Amino acid sequence: MIGCGGIALQNHLPGLALCPDVQLTALCDSDEACLERGRQKTGVRVISKTYAEIVSRDDIDAVIIATPNVTHRPIALAAIAAGKHVLCEKPLAMNYPDAKEMADAADRAGVRHMTAFTYRFVPAMQYLSHLVRRGDLGQPYHYRSCRLQDWGSRQLGWRQVKKLAGTGELGDMLSHRIDFAHLLIGPMRRLVANLKQYVPVRQGLPSDLDDWVALIAEFENGGTGVLESSKMASGRNESWRSLDYVEINGSERSFVFTTGDWNRLQTGKAGGPGLETITIPEEFWRWPGSPRDPKSGDPLVTFRYDQAWEFVDAIRNQRPCRPSFHDGARVLAVMDAAVRSAETRSWVEL
Ligand SMILES: NC(=O)c1ccc[n+]([C@@H]2O[C@H](COP(=O)([O-])OP(=O)(O)OC[C@H]3O[C@@H](n4cnc5c(N)ncnc54)[C@H](O)[C@@H]3O)[C@@H](O)[C@H]2O)c1
Repeated sequence: MIGCGGIALQNHLPGLALCPDVQLTALCDSDEACLERGRQKTGVRVISKTYAEIVSRDDIDAVIIATPNVTHRPIALAAIAAGKHVLCEKPLAMNYPDAKEMADAADRAGVRHMTAFTYRFVPAMQYLSHLVRRGDLGQPYHYRSCRLQDWGSRQLGWRQVKKLAGTGELGDMLSHRIDFAHLLIGPMRRLVANLKQYVPVRQGLPSDLDDWVALIAEFENGGTGVLESSKMASGRNESWRSLDYVEINGSERSFVFTTGDWNRLQTGKAGGPGLETITIPEEFWRWPGSPRDPKSGDPLVTFRYDQAWEFVDAIRNQRPCRPSFHDGARVLAVMDAAVRSAETRSWVEL
């Protein structure tokens, strides 16, 4: 485990702990206190402040990278060069060329590679993508997503520094919803976007990144997309309890997904009376093969643990991970285009 901060402790370590016959062998964090906290929580004996020491070990098959965005590429490339399978946090890199380099290097080395688009693992999103693949949507017309959180003006650490994070709300939150759009509708053809910063100083420390982002997109299949994400939606609360909404409209049906409604969707038929709520069949309440009991724990937290299972299962069965580094790179291509569009005040072709 490389990076023992927030997301490592919340998602990755509990997810790994559920996977039978998987041993957490080593922890790495450049910060002494984080490393020590990780060691105390896990009892892992091998610890290091230097990732190069970890990725070169013979008793390690795979690494999870959960460090600030700017470090993903060098750590992933070092791990790949050492023949390790890699699960890396999103956004995969600082820009599309770097992400593509990572994906190609992993392919060439024949290692498994996965991007942590955790919200794909919400049971309702899994079921929705199954229904779309089955053809229930018909011809896709519109994709709409809205992520509204209330982060106010509090300090965000590395997340508020461009040279460490790359982008603000765009990479932090919208990246997951761009991935949803790819999953449900397909690749985008062109887009126009805007980014805005509201809080240039967060608790005495400068911030040089966006707090709000929106984009309008046209997909290759002719569908349209409207995506918005904000840290400044006062009163909406933080974290996963705040609004995370996706609506898709097609020639046959519409579907509405919200992360908070983890096992329900709303749907309505073209020409019908309006939306009804449907419950997800129980076989979709966890990822295929996952050892997790979907009735144990808070379902808004525990679906995240299936991500580690997907990584482990793909390694064991020598199959591509879903989502892969290529999915991570595709999202970076859209993010780069969004930044360029905002800077040039124009539409950008993808
Ligand atoms: N998939 C999701 O839902 C999700 C949610 C939160 C964060 N993330 C992503 O996870 C990553 C980490 O976010 P976080 O919230 O855990 O941040 P964090 O600041 O809580 O933790 C990052 C840790 O990495 C350590 N670190 C920094 N540079 C390092 C290096 N070179 N080598 C080893 N350790 C290093 C830091 O000391 C810190 O402990 C980011 O890329 C973020 O975008 C994803």
